[in-house]
Amino acid sequence: MDYKSNIAKLIKIDGLTENDVASMMMNVKDITMGDYCLPCFRFAKTLRKAPQLIAEEIASTIDLSVAPYLSKVEAVAGYLNFTVNKAFFAQNTIDRILKEGEAYGEDKVGEGKTICIDYSSVNIAKPFHIGHLLTTVIGGALYRIYKKLGYNVVGINHLGDWGTQFGKLISAYKRWGTREQIEQGSIRALLDLYVKFHDEAEKDPALEEEGRYYFKKIEDGDTEALELFSWFKEVTLREVGKVYDRLGIKFDSYAGESFYNDKMDAPLRALKDKGLLVESDGAEVVQLDDYSMPPCLLRKADGATLYATRDIAAAIYRKDTYDFDKCLYVVAYQQNLHFKQFFKVIELMGHEWAKDLVHVAFGMVSLLDDDGNPVSLSTRHGRVVFLEEVLDNTVRKARSIIEQKNPDLEGKDEIAENIGVGAVIYSALYASRIKDMTFSYDRVLNFDGETGPYVQYTYARCNAVLQKAPLNDSLPDYSALTSIEADELIRLLERYPQVIKEAGDKYEPSMVTRLVTDIASQYNKFYYQERIIGGDKGAEKARLNLTKATMQVIYNAFELLGIKTVDRM
Ligand code: ARG
Repeated sequence: MDYKSNIAKLIKIDGLTENDVASMMMNVKDITMGDYCLPCFRFAKTLRKAPQLIAEEIASTIDLSVAPYLSKVEAVAGYLNFTVNKAFFAQNTIDRILKEGEAYGEDKVGEGKTICIDYSSVNIAKPFHIGHLLTTVIGGALYRIYKKLGYNVVGINHLGDWGTQFGKLISAYKRWGTREQIEQGSIRALLDLYVKFHDEAEKDPALEEEGRYYFKKIEDGDTEALELFSWFKEVTLREVGKVYDRLGIKFDSYAGESFYNDKMDAPLRALKDKGLLVESDGAEVVQLDDYSMPPCLLRKADGATLYATRDIAAAIYRKDTYDFDKCLYVVAYQQNLHFKQFFKVIELMGHEWAKDLVHVAFGMVSLLDDDGNPVSLSTRHGRVVFLEEVLDNTVRKARSIIEQKNPDLEGKDEIAENIGVGAVIYSALYASRIKDMTFSYDRVLNFDGETGPYVQYTYARCNAVLQKAPLNDSLPDYSALTSIEADELIRLLERYPQVIKEAGDKYEPSMVTRLVTDIASQYNKFYYQERIIGGDKGAEKARLNLTKATMQVIYNAFELLGIKTVDRM
């Protein structure tokens, strides 16, 4: 329930509406003083009275008997402080969570609105490596968060499937490749061919020419070239798809860069007509000096279009097709300039919706080896760590921890998969997205601290408590949940729906990760502080219901983040 607006209904101040009052209500910092407060300084001038007197006068008009959710109203130092009735708050919150179940956290704010999210956006025939972890899981989490908030969400994988490298790949394949090799070796085999092409081209520059020749064939729609090109794409997507399945990632569209081949003329012409597209050394650019940016290059001297040209066509296509209210691009901050430039070009074209394009930037990931040293990565030199390997390694390590701690556990493989993959996702969604992160196997699998396994362990603990509990049909006595530990836990559970909204507003799934971590750690404090099972039946039932509600919220939050919970571990 929305306490601030309910409390506002009790307060009458001349010239102010309920909404005005609700918007002035604040949270009390020191929870021993109350929960919500109304600062009365703001009325002193108009009412010509001291704030404390105003607070006292309002307090005397409030009838608590019509507000069972409050236990106290008090005028203190010019503030009107309200204390929520703990038993009422506990009952209200826990009942709501248990009643709504998986729907707890759902909202309608997004109804009738569309959000496009461009995320993961892998490159064909290139490794799907640890660097793609953040865009993939942040994008996936935002996708689910907006769905929860009622938006119509369109997930787009803007594939990197265009460029001269595909001509080179065809040339390399025809010279050195076989069908079986590629079918079996998948992206690695394609990468090997690509690396070999570059090595050989250093000795024999004619190869570059051959690469261009095949790329031209793709552009001209030559059947054989196109067939090979789409086969490379299929092989790449098949392998990437396995990782998406493990991470719980879905897309509504795979329209990549090549999809826009025939959609760039119109915007280029529009830019030319507006006098925005100008020639520069044979190339065509939009000058952005006025905005302190280098020119946005849209066509090279040889006529080739660029990444930015395709992004401009894609944004226009998405607006026409989906009529989005917002279009998000979950892409590393290294591409800040690219997004600023092409957003500006769209604005200069006169599209007022340019303001709805948002670059959701994030930091870099570096990997630490088992000794804690950074692993140096370079696609060009073939030093890449595939995301799939990172998942496999984490799952293997999770499995060996289970083997040590709980060798008789049933369903070890599936549990290890959920813990390992969950640990990787969690680590990517814990810090604010703009921070650079280092990935260390030891750290993500640490069972205490801010990790996926820690939260999963708490979930399994809740489950164990409920399994152990004797049958208890008594009415819960929520007045038994008044310890600081229980109260703080209930407050955290109650904040969950609000936090989802904030995470959506700020494009920051980490807010959900942090809340669920706080919930887990607070549950453990409650668990150590109070004996959950035993004693008065009504009180026991209240503690069990709180345990159930905690499980539900952990489950819901993890589902949003794309992490599977485990019943035991
Ligand atoms: N494929 C690009 C890369 O790996 C990311 C594409 C992001 N999306 C976009 N519309 N530019 O760098």
